Amino acid sequence: MKDNFYKRLLDNANDLIWAVNMEGCFIYINDNISEWGYDKDELIGKPLLDILNTKIIGKRYSETSKLGVRSAFEMEVLDKRGQAHMVRVSSSPLQDDDEEIIGVMGIIHDISETQKLEEKLKNEERLASLGRLATGVAHEIRNPLSSVKMNLAILRKRLQPQGVDEEHFTIAQEEVANLENIVTELIDYAKPMPLDLKRLNLNEAIESAVIMTKSASDEKNVAVKIIKAGDAPLALLDKAKIHQVLLNVILNAIQASSPKGSVTVQAQYIKDKQKAKIVVSDKGEGIKPEEMKFVFDPFFTTKKSGVGMGLSIVKSIINNHNGTITIKSEQGKGTDVSLEFPVC
Ligand SMILES: Nc1ncnc2c1ncn2[C@@H]1O[C@H](COP(=O)(O)OP(=O)(O)OP(=O)(O)O)[C@@H](O)[C@H]1O
Ligand SMILES: [Mg+2]
Repeated sequence: MKDNFYKRLLDNANDLIWAVNMEGCFIYINDNISEWGYDKDELIGKPLLDILNTKIIGKRYSETSKLGVRSAFEMEVLDKRGQAHMVRVSSSPLQDDDEEIIGVMGIIHDISETQKLEEKLKNEERLASLGRLATGVAHEIRNPLSSVKMNLAILRKRLQPQGVDEEHFTIAQEEVANLENIVTELIDYAKPMPLDLKRLNLNEAIESAVIMTKSASDEKNVAVKIIKAGDAPLALLDKAKIHQVLLNVILNAIQASSPKGSVTVQAQYIKDKQKAKIVVSDKGEGIKPEEMKFVFDPFFTTKKSGVGMGLSIVKSIINNHNGTITIKSEQGKGTDVSLEFPVC
């Protein structure tokens, strides 16, 4: 009865608990090992270092077994399926009734999720301070820029330039207009965003955004296909802002596609999560893994004529709607951008 109780206590623990003999072979391992793709019976009698084979644990393990030292450290291990886990290992000597060391016991705690959350939080803080910096600069630029714009207009009127001189004026005024757009986008990005929330049918929202991207898709000969959700999910959304989100994400997909490529925009209702989901998929160039962490940064762009504000604005609108955005991309194969919103 008592043995059963202790067995259950160990087997039901949230962490991986194990014990090895002096030869380093498993004499006990709890049920949690199945989450790593192993069957515990296949491991009993096998060396620990077969499954956690890295230099670091080898060194720590021999310290613990030979010198009786307790040890705690973090490391990355691969499970049977080859999936990497970041874990915190703590090990201590295993003693018999005469306090002789007969092996090592340890606990392995998976910290991958905690690490992901910490990473996300750090990233959000970094984005917030980047946003503050960029808007600060935008405010400083706005007034001198209006003055340049106004003076150019006065000079043009007064001098009535002709030929090449007129072209110089046109270029200068167009560039000022471009700068003004960027400044306005930046200021909008950081402005507190009052939402005009209404029940919105996602199928309809997608349709109207796709229509707006028609000239871009036609120009590149990219087919944009809509897959509607059967049970038309209603989500509480700000229509104009969600339109802006969809436009940016669909335009990015079209821009990443090669001519004659295809883009799919799919709406789904995920009943068990009570979420409405939109996935925009392309088979375009994909995002380089090392660039993935920058795509939501203001002004990050890999395009010749891009500003790099699209996804930063998308992210801040989605956050304001208590939604989530996730991007999965493989270079050369394509990109899936998934947006999820709570349904009402
Ligand atoms: N579907 C996609 N496929 C490949 N790369 C993408 C995709 N979506 C975004 N990116 C990458 O992320 C970067 C940032 O996108 P974002 O929309 O913020 O800016 P942009 O499209 O470059 O400029 P703009 O301000 O005009 O939108 C892009 O320059 C591109 O490198
Ligand atoms: Mg864009």
